[in-house]
Parts: sequence; C-alpha cells; structure tokens
Amino acid sequence: MLDQQAERVMALSEWENRWQENRIGFHQPALHTMLKTHLDKVLSGRTGVRFFFPLCGKAVDMKWLADLGHTVVGVEISEKAVRQFFEENNMTFTEELVPSIPGAKLFKNLEKNISLYQCDLFSFSSSVGGQFGAIWDRGSLVAINPKDRERYAALIMSLMASDCRYLLDTLLYNPEFYKGPPFFVPDEQVQDLFGSSCDLELLQSTDALTDRTRTWGLASLTENVHLITLKENFHS
Ligand SMILES: C[S@@+](CC[C@H](N)C(=O)[O-])C[C@H]1O[C@@H](n2cnc3c(N)ncnc32)[C@H](O)[C@@H]1O
Repeated sequence: MLDQQAERVMALSEWENRWQENRIGFHQPALHTMLKTHLDKVLSGRTGVRFFFPLCGKAVDMKWLADLGHTVVGVEISEKAVRQFFEENNMTFTEELVPSIPGAKLFKNLEKNISLYQCDLFSFSSSVGGQFGAIWDRGSLVAINPKDRERYAALIMSLMASDCRYLLDTLLYNPEFYKGPPFFVPDEQVQDLFGSSCDLELLQSTDALTDRTRTWGLASLTENVHLITLKENFHS
C-alpha cells in the first residue's frame, strides 16, 4: 500500500501556491480536539513546556497553548501563513533574519512566547531552535513527501529533549483512491520510523470521514494519535 504514494512529491512552491490561492482546506479554525483530549498526557504534570509545531501553518492550537503559559516554536515555509497567524489572532510581531539559515525569517510575539520560523523544515535543527519538551504533529508527517519520512523522523528525534512527549496524528485510508497529501501513514510505518529509539503508544483511533474527505473518493478514513517518547539513553 505504501508503494502507491512513494513517488508523490509536493514541491515547496506548490504549498506556497496553495496559500496564495487560499486552497487551505487543511486549516481548522477551531482547536484540534485530539490535542485538547490528550494534553494532560503530553504535559505529564509539567508547566511552561516548550512546544514544537513542525509544518505549523496558522494552527490556532499554537495560540491556545501559549495562552496556557507554554512556549511555542513553529516552522512553516509560507510567509503568508505566518503573517496570517499573527494577524488573525490580533498579535503584534517582530521580524528578523535568521543568520544561520539563508533566506529564513523569524517572526516572534514576545508577550505570548510564540516564535515562527519561515523556512524549509529540513533547514531547521536543534542548533537553531534548541530542543523541545513536547511536539504536536498534526498535518506534518502526513504532509511531507513520503520519500523524506526517514529524514523527517531523524530530525524530529534530534529535536526531542530527553523528557519530550511527542503527540503524532496520522491518517489511514486506502491510497488507491487518493494520492495525497495528506498521505497515508500506517501504524507499522510509525513503528519502523521511531520504534528503535522510542516507546510508542496508540492513544486514540477515530473515524475521521467527513464530507470534505468523501470528495477525495474515500469510503473510510481513520485518524490515529500516538504518544512517542525517547527511550532512555537516546541522547547519551
Ligand atoms: C497540511 S498543512 C498543516 C498545517 C498545520 N499543521 C495545521 O494543522 O493546520 C502543511 C503545512 O506545511 C507547510 N510545509 C510543507 N512542507 C514544508 C516544509 N518542508 N517546510 C516547512 N513548511 C512546509 C505548508 O505550507 C502547509 O502550511
């Protein structure tokens, strides 16, 4: 089943075009229910956690977490998305170049501790943004090109602090009927990508078929949420 989407490539310019043409059906105007449901498990008693949002778009979940006192760092290729995030949430922001990433910009709201890097995720690293106590991955692993998944998993694990709790949202459907993105990521592949260095727990599995996803030609769609933590000694 993985073969069907293995060669599918979305160029960064195609994502930018989607933003320019407002074809952003992936954006949800309300807080993601699975983040809300599992936040306690992600926090595990901690306060003031540093959250990472790979491929963040303009997810309102970032503001929700910042309002709860957490720090948020996101990475997004589209400058339009980043600007819209701050504008639509009535937040002022500063803008600066990132010397270590050619062409990248950093947008920040200091009051709420939100920093969004406008750059390719694969040029971001812990030397630029440090490590994180939590990650919310919605529309990210499922959106990057399938051939980049191993590279993606290695990058994400390098960004995880030893106590990091990584909440990963994946989608299961029959890829014969839809070419993606979002791409089909079966649990076996989550295990292959992270299982040798991490402990994995499937927290929730939900029927996610909607009118929108029915128009993709799908008759069934499942959304899974995994909690991923580094095994001891990963960083040693
Ligand atoms: C499916 S959307 C999900 C956005 C967000 N996580 C959400 O839940 O609304 C994927 C986003 O990643 C951005 N993107 C895709 N590839 C990227 C890359 N390699 N680096 C940075 N951003 C990327 C796209 O512009 C798009 O906004």
